[in-house]
Amino acid sequence: MKRVITYGTFDLLHYGHINLLRRAKQYGDYLIVALSTDEFNWEEKRKKCYFDYEKRKQLLEAIRYVDLVIPEESWEQKRTDVREYHVDTFVMGNDWEGKFDFLKEFCEVVYLPRTPEISTSQIKKDLNDR
Ligand code: CTP
Repeated sequence: MKRVITYGTFDLLHYGHINLLRRAKQYGDYLIVALSTDEFNWEEKRKKCYFDYEKRKQLLEAIRYVDLVIPEESWEQKRTDVREYHVDTFVMGNDWEGKFDFLKEFCEVVYLPRTPEISTSQIKKDLNDR
């Protein structure tokens, strides 16, 4: 069985996220999503989530492409996750292009083109401007 992993916040789930998860799953049979915790989001990314971790996790678990959701609590955990979960392919959107190439020593690393014109920040901004 081929295992794939991806990382992200996935707040206010939108079609850009679904596109990413669908394409990530095509790289294997089992897709793990490492979901940023509320603390990690705030302390490391300076992003405040609208939906808390448990709600974001429930939404992801309801998606047919997602097999397992684990917490993302630090930048450094990727190497350990790849080893522990026997990951074959690491997938991220190309806003992270090149950033995780150090994982190539352990697994395949793929950056997928982002879906244009949609992001959680954009949704928040648009609603705020209305
Ligand atoms: N993603 C994507 N296309 C989009 C938005 C996100 O492919 N239009 C991908 C990202 O590249 C990442 C994953 O979805 O691999 C999770 O992204 P996340 O940062 O949670 O979503 P964004 O909508 O980009 O959120 P924000 O605006 O807060 O950065």
